[in-house]
Amino acid sequence: MHDEKPLWYEESVREKIIAFVICIICGLIILSSETKGGEVFLSEYWERPIPPQNDFNKFPLYPEECGKCHKEQHNGWKGSLHSRAVGPGLLGQLRTDKDPQFAQSCYFCHAPMAEQSEIILPSPLAGEGQGEGIKNPSFDNKLKLSGVSCSVCHLRKGKVYGPPARKTVSSKKQDNHNGFVEKDFFEKADFCEACHQLDEGYELNGKLLVNTYREWKESIYGQNNVTCQNCHMPDRQHLWRGIHDKEMVLRGVRIESVRRDKGARITITNSGVGHYFPTYATPLVVVKGFMLDKTGKVIQGSLKKAFIGRTISLDLSEEIFDTRIPPQKSFEFDYATRGSYSDGKITFEVWVYPDEFYNKFYKAILKDADMDLNRGEVEKAIETTNASPYRLFREVL
Ligand code: HEC
Ligand code: HEC
Ligand code: HEC
Ligand code: HEC
Ligand code: HEC
Repeated sequence: MHDEKPLWYEESVREKIIAFVICIICGLIILSSETKGGEVFLSEYWERPIPPQNDFNKFPLYPEECGKCHKEQHNGWKGSLHSRAVGPGLLGQLRTDKDPQFAQSCYFCHAPMAEQSEIILPSPLAGEGQGEGIKNPSFDNKLKLSGVSCSVCHLRKGKVYGPPARKTVSSKKQDNHNGFVEKDFFEKADFCEACHQLDEGYELNGKLLVNTYREWKESIYGQNNVTCQNCHMPDRQHLWRGIHDKEMVLRGVRIESVRRDKGARITITNSGVGHYFPTYATPLVVVKGFMLDKTGKVIQGSLKKAFIGRTISLDLSEEIFDTRIPPQKSFEFDYATRGSYSDGKITFEVWVYPDEFYNKFYKAILKDADMDLNRGEVEKAIETTNASPYRLFREVL
């Protein structure tokens, strides 16, 4: 039972996490001062918390305001997880009234604008003992709930930033935003790195907990400049589909199954994912092999499973296994029949559990009666994550 206890909430673990995130923030700031000179750079652009916009209040900060004119981007974004970055899973764990510092460490990626945060923390560079932060007069709860929204990616000091205008657009390009700023970095993978890569300081089994950007950079996609945007925002669509979307996953993997000897083999190849499949430690892919009898029923005891993923303990202290598939590599699973059933039909299925880690984690923390949680939110998060698994593949051989 002891190993089921989520240590996440124990004081020492929380402190470690806060220290760890502050360490990332420092890391980013230090890195940023090393990048080469000239105007607004990406590193400065992603300085967080993103400085307040209210002094420059030319633009509405809410996504539905931008959506009045940019319907397509708004519809896409609404359907994406970026719009749900401050959802039940996060809200359930945060007691912003009692421990706003902890929340701050999560807002770095989930709600990075100054207006999205209850408190103003002293600069992480100020060192320890610089106080616990003060109440934020510009805090906007509605904006906080909008998560990673338009303003997070496009607005700085009241100015709209975006990619260079499309070449196909007619030349009489007007400036609708009173000083729209074009930046090449919107088209680069580095733009996404700000939230989809961690720096040294938190490794498990010698590997970073989140390493998507570097996995990409080392792959043929990184080498050939096939960017995150090329796959996740084709034609600049604001969809960001990933592991939760069956069609997206099917586009990224090739699955082949054949009978061989007395059994069968299934081969799953990472043929089109720009990083490990899957990249995070949170999903799990389950490969199942089993036999069907003449009536099409599963023969009892014939089920065998294999797992693709990086499984870590709920307190993030231990890696249990890592079988993720790097780009261009394959995962093989051999199914051997047992003598008497060898004329039965072998079936392979592949199931995707996009939120496997979180689902287990939420259930574990809810079980602990002493834990300080927004229980209703955690229950909602359990419901959502219970519903996310799907069958990716099935073949009867
Ligand atoms: C009153 C209507 C209106 C509102 C509100 C509005 N925009 Fe725009 N925006 C436009 C128009 C018109 C253009 C130029 C045509 C185009 O490229 O879509 C534009 C262009 C852009 C572009 C550049 C597209 C390009 O490459 O040329 C970005 C990025 C953008 N808007 C983001 C936003 C964001 C973020 C918000 C909310 C903070 C917002 N807009 C609010 C009308 C609006
Ligand atoms: C400000 C931080 C931030 C930036 C910048 C950002 N993301 Fe995200 N992204 C997140 C967060 C947080 C989530 C998870 C939201 C949730 O489920 O709570 C996420 C989720 C996603 C997902 C969905 C994953 C899934 O499990 O289905 C994809 C795909 C994605 N991001 C791609 C991108 C790409 C591509 C870029 C660059 C154009 C980008 N992101 C930029 C923070 C960010
Ligand atoms: C470096 C950026 C980053 C930081 C810092 C961060 N997250 Fe996330 N978080 C992500 C991304 C990206 C995802 C989506 C990928 C995934 O599912 O793991 C995510 C997903 C989640 C999810 C599952 C989706 C959801 O919204 O229900 C939860 C819960 C979550 N994070 C909680 C936290 C908490 C609590 C903290 C602070 C202790 C935190 N995160 C800090 C980037 C970050
Ligand atoms: C996670 C960051 C992120 C968020 C959130 C986001 N965008 Fe974008 N947006 C981008 C990137 C990156 C591009 C450029 C993509 C490319 O060039 O491949 C872009 C491009 C655009 C463009 C130019 C489109 C074109 O066809 O030229 C507009 C307009 C725009 N975004 C508006 C919005 C609006 C409105 C919202 C909110 C509903 C929003 N964006 C949310 C990152 C984001
Ligand atoms: C060649 C296309 C391609 C490129 C390039 C690519 N991805 Fe993906 N990505 C996918 C596919 C397909 C999936 C769905 C399968 C999966 O989840 O691994 C995915 C899934 C994801 C997920 C879901 C979480 C998970 O555990 O898999 C995130 C987050 C993500 N990508 C972010 C990024 C970021 C950030 C970059 C750039 C550094 C990037 N991707 C580059 C194709 C791509």
